[in-house]
Amino acid sequence: VPPRLIKITPTQLKKQNGRKGMNAWGTYQGKVYNLTPYLKYHPGGVGELLRGAGKVGEAERLFVEIHPWVNWEAMLSECLVGILVSGDNIKA
Ligand code: HEM
Repeated sequence: VPPRLIKITPTQLKKQNGRKGMNAWGTYQGKVYNLTPYLKYHPGGVGELLRGAGKVGEAERLFVEIHPWVNWEAMLSECLVGILVSGDNIKA
């Protein structure tokens, strides 16, 4: 686990949709991961992975729907960025 996890609001997450030079962030079990370094390795392709970027709960929903046997946390532990929080008035 990275030493400092930041708190991430839905508004912050929305910007990280993988477009316009932004990273692609995806949520899984309340945690936010940077999917960008994994994009080129994803067996399902970049476009598929980006479908879940920047949207609360969407990466997890698609991930579980398509390949529930894949171990997200083990594969992307290095890509953990922070914890998703509900409000938008919380300082990171
Ligand atoms: C394979 C979609 C997220 C790891 C695939 C395939 C699709 C897909 C369609 C099948 C490719 C094929 O067999 O032709 C998605 C979507 C995601 C997502 C829509 C989220 C928006 C992830 C994440 C990881 C991941 C976050 C890693 C933590 C893999 C792996 C395979 C795979 C390992 C190969 C699985 C196997 O063949 O058993 N994905 N994926 N995917 N994806 Fe994803």
